[in-house]
Amino acid sequence: MCSNFNRNGIKKVKESKRSSQHLPFFTFLQNASKSSKVASQGYTPLAFRPFLRLNETMTAEQKTKVALFLDMAGDYLRDGYKRPPREYAFAADLPAVSPLCSDTTPSDAVVITTPRIPASGEPGTTPGKEPGVEGADSLEMVAAAVRCCTGCPLHTTRTMAVPGEGVSHPLVLVIGEGPGADEDASGRPFVGKAGQLLDKMLAAIGLSREQHCFIANVVKCRPPGNRDPLPEEVASCASFLTRQIRLLKPLVILGAGRVSTQTLLNTSEGIGKLRGGFTPYAGIPLLPTYHPSALLRDASLKRPAWEDLKLLRTKLIDLDETYALNTPEGS
Ligand code: URA
Repeated sequence: MCSNFNRNGIKKVKESKRSSQHLPFFTFLQNASKSSKVASQGYTPLAFRPFLRLNETMTAEQKTKVALFLDMAGDYLRDGYKRPPREYAFAADLPAVSPLCSDTTPSDAVVITTPRIPASGEPGTTPGKEPGVEGADSLEMVAAAVRCCTGCPLHTTRTMAVPGEGVSHPLVLVIGEGPGADEDASGRPFVGKAGQLLDKMLAAIGLSREQHCFIANVVKCRPPGNRDPLPEEVASCASFLTRQIRLLKPLVILGAGRVSTQTLLNTSEGIGKLRGGFTPYAGIPLLPTYHPSALLRDASLKRPAWEDLKLLRTKLIDLDETYALNTPEGS
């Protein structure tokens, strides 16, 4: 004889119900757990990121429903017995500034505090003010505002906005053009093939995004089909990048590709002419170079790009003692 209850009086979840109702959720869990390598390095598995964003904006009632659902999933995974519902008391609902977003949303950008403290008098520091203290603005506030932004039509086609990420006072601020498909899906900059090449280029001169760089883009939402951002989209996004540069106080800016360099320098000159040397931008040395995607399309650009990277290394040796002591030799 088969009872619907076990000997502790806990109700058994019926096989037919649980398989038909919950299969997509368990597939999701399985996929998420495949990211455990990433999780073990301290990052949030990408598959969970949309849920974390929801967590920032859900009402207490919605949170309770999700928690009860997850409990039921736990029951299923443990032994198939449904336990009595737990009582949850989530914090009061968030103020409904916008149904999906508020400017106070905490950032999940990977912003790591770096030991580099901008020296007084360095571009971006205010005389008489503690270096690094920057009024009320913060990288997290910029990221939150980017995620809420509806300032141009790109917000209607984006999956996730991509505010940028990296260390809070970087040696190098890399500025790309705008998110591609991989970035749009993950909310993180330069994570596709071009991003992997960018990481290798940076590593060749002893830099990493985890320790030395901040990676941002001119526009924070993906232009459909990876087209160039339109002037009005660039204009609409401009204040985010300006705020980021003011807060980050990078020692050097690396302009990755034509679009970012032309935007920053307000010129229509080709990247072939712009690259190969530094131009000041807001008092910060800006080095234009080819976009990693261009290097993937045309291998003959790798040599001049390497020349640019060597210029960058020489500049950093001049500007930062710690980098000078640790930089690889290269050829
Ligand atoms: N290309 C860019 O310019 N930026 C990204 O974030 C990714 C690809």
